[in-house]
Amino acid sequence: MNTDERASVGRVAAPEPGRVLSAGDAAAPAASVAASDFGKVAVLMGGTSAEREISLLSGTGVLAALRASGVDAHAFDPAERVLHELKRDGFSRCFIALHGRHGEDGTVQGALELLGIPYTGPGVMASAIAIDKVMTKRVWSAEGLPTPRFVRLAPDERTRERIRTVPDEIGLPLIVKPPREGSSLGITKVAGNEDMQGAVELAGRYDLDVLCEEFIAGDEVTCAVLGAGAGAHALPVIRIEAPDGAYDYQNKYFTDVVRYHCPSGLPEAEEQEIRRLAVAAHRSLGCRGWSRADLMIRRRDRKPFLLEINTSPGMTSHSLVPMSARAAGLDYPALCLRILGMAALDAPAVARSA
Ligand SMILES: Nc1ncnc2c1ncn2[C@@H]1O[C@H](COP(=O)(O)OP(=O)(O)O)[C@@H](O)[C@H]1O
Ligand SMILES: [Mg+2]
Repeated sequence: MNTDERASVGRVAAPEPGRVLSAGDAAAPAASVAASDFGKVAVLMGGTSAEREISLLSGTGVLAALRASGVDAHAFDPAERVLHELKRDGFSRCFIALHGRHGEDGTVQGALELLGIPYTGPGVMASAIAIDKVMTKRVWSAEGLPTPRFVRLAPDERTRERIRTVPDEIGLPLIVKPPREGSSLGITKVAGNEDMQGAVELAGRYDLDVLCEEFIAGDEVTCAVLGAGAGAHALPVIRIEAPDGAYDYQNKYFTDVVRYHCPSGLPEAEEQEIRRLAVAAHRSLGCRGWSRADLMIRRRDRKPFLLEINTSPGMTSHSLVPMSARAAGLDYPALCLRILGMAALDAPAVARSA
């Protein structure tokens, strides 16, 4: 492919600030960046987290899409190579397609800050807060954003007596989960006091702390956000329909019993409220680039609650963010370019050279 072809295939619309992206306008041309302007790009994929396999799928999809758009993109697995080779090998940007620990938690972001290589998605602090559902909920509570009531149990608080009192505080049923794990691993819905101990022990196998959270019965939705600050805008909401609300690891990745609706089919006012909350959740943590918030809408009064925010969401062509982007007129390769186009560093150049 010659340079002109590459440039025309790879032109990507930059997001316009201050507006909610709606169907039809996501692909509208604005300021554009040529694919060749990105330089040599590393797609970070794999890694050592429990979500390694999913990351390899995300990364393989992103790599193919970027290459098809004319970007000089290469796979880079931090489980197989040390990160400083990125500098040695002349990479000028990274697309982070890692999930979970050491990929989505601020650590790889910190390493890239030190190397001075711009990367996709939120920076160090936003990533580190978002990976921890307890810290995230504390920020949201402080900002007045709705999130289910919760109790955090540190290792020294997990006595039988303390565990027994949790249902008195947040009611039953409740959800027990490890605060820093993804993909619904170690999560239990607890219906009666007798199940508490086992649920806490299970979650404790995945994490130091255990999060006990009020169960919200209702509709499950997820909403992606692109951009940063006043320029952050939501993509269309996806409504997730799982049998008996069983949206667990098995159903998420290995069955086709879960149905995804985008457009969501929610009343317009609810759709807009979810989008507003997703943008507020993103901005409250100081996220940039992209994120995807998971929420529940309580059946009895239609009140929405934020569950968590994912700062490096699944990115196979069948994943949720690409599905939502498509509904807004932004196809998978264009979405990959859009996200890559927002790659940045926390530290301004002047701070790094000081
Ligand atoms: N408080 C809650 N009320 C109802 N369902 C919940 C609650 N917390 C989690 N769930 C269910 O468990 C799934 C996974 O929980 P989530 O907090 O999103 O963690 P992760 O996706 O990181 O595993 C959610 O998608 C939802 O189906
Ligand atoms: Mg989730």
